[in-house]
Amino acid sequence: MLKKWTNRKEGETNGSLDLDPRNIPNHVAIIMDGNGRWAKKRGLPRIAGHREGMNVIKKIVKKSNQLGIRTLTLYAFSTENWKRPKPEVDFLMRLPERFLKSELPKLTEENVQVRITGSKEALPTHTINAVEKAIEDTKNNDGLILNFALNYGSRHEMIEAMKQVYKEIDRGRLAVDEIDEKTVSSHLMTGDLSDPDLLIRTSGEIRLSNFMLWQLAYSEFWFTETLWPDFTENHFNEAIQVYQKRIRRYGGV
Ligand code: IPE
Ligand code: IPE
Ligand code: MG
Repeated sequence: MLKKWTNRKEGETNGSLDLDPRNIPNHVAIIMDGNGRWAKKRGLPRIAGHREGMNVIKKIVKKSNQLGIRTLTLYAFSTENWKRPKPEVDFLMRLPERFLKSELPKLTEENVQVRITGSKEALPTHTINAVEKAIEDTKNNDGLILNFALNYGSRHEMIEAMKQVYKEIDRGRLAVDEIDEKTVSSHLMTGDLSDPDLLIRTSGEIRLSNFMLWQLAYSEFWFTETLWPDFTENHFNEAIQVYQKRIRRYGGV
């Protein structure tokens, strides 16, 4: 079924030689899914899948930088993921520190700017401290923007945006008739980031799971059965190849 969206066997192609350098997506967003199933298949605890998934992030960040992608957004934890068993949530909340501990020096050196999209309030202090340090240390970098969607949920984001817009109206800073797409976009947590050009979701689930409902209005989607810990640079390359064959009409002809 999934083959419909792709032109060849998954992971079959490699190298970025067959990519058109003039048509690299500006912003790629990934719903990194399937860590739990990857672990289960191996008789391992779910957290082993999350650990393995973190190593894939390192490879895809590197590849994105090489390809000249401007923004890479990675869905790391949703507002609904708090429903998971506490030990799993605790482990996931330790992952940003683990990742940044080993990667921050490299990211800084490679001119990567780290950002977070999501609500920081509910995160444990140790997680906030780690991400805030990374944001601060890399804020002047102007290479790849590595944006983690952490405690992110699109509906929550929209509710917060509505509240802010309402407050501005209430204070007389904004008139109802002035509200346009820009007003909404600029009040979302993604702020000044461009909308994703390409959305990738791994693990065979064909849904958005509360991810960037507004921002994905005209994005190209690419789904793969591959579980996130098995995702490689070749899969990534293939997604971009497929993207490059798409004709984006935006409602035109
Ligand atoms: C994605 O993998 C990681 C997070 C949602 C944090 P899952 O943990 O959802 O893996 P599956 O979907 O259960 O296999
Ligand atoms: C979406 O995956 C969230 C992240 C990848 C962080 P889920 O595994 O939470 O999504 P559902 O529950 O299958 O829709
Ligand atoms: Mg999942």
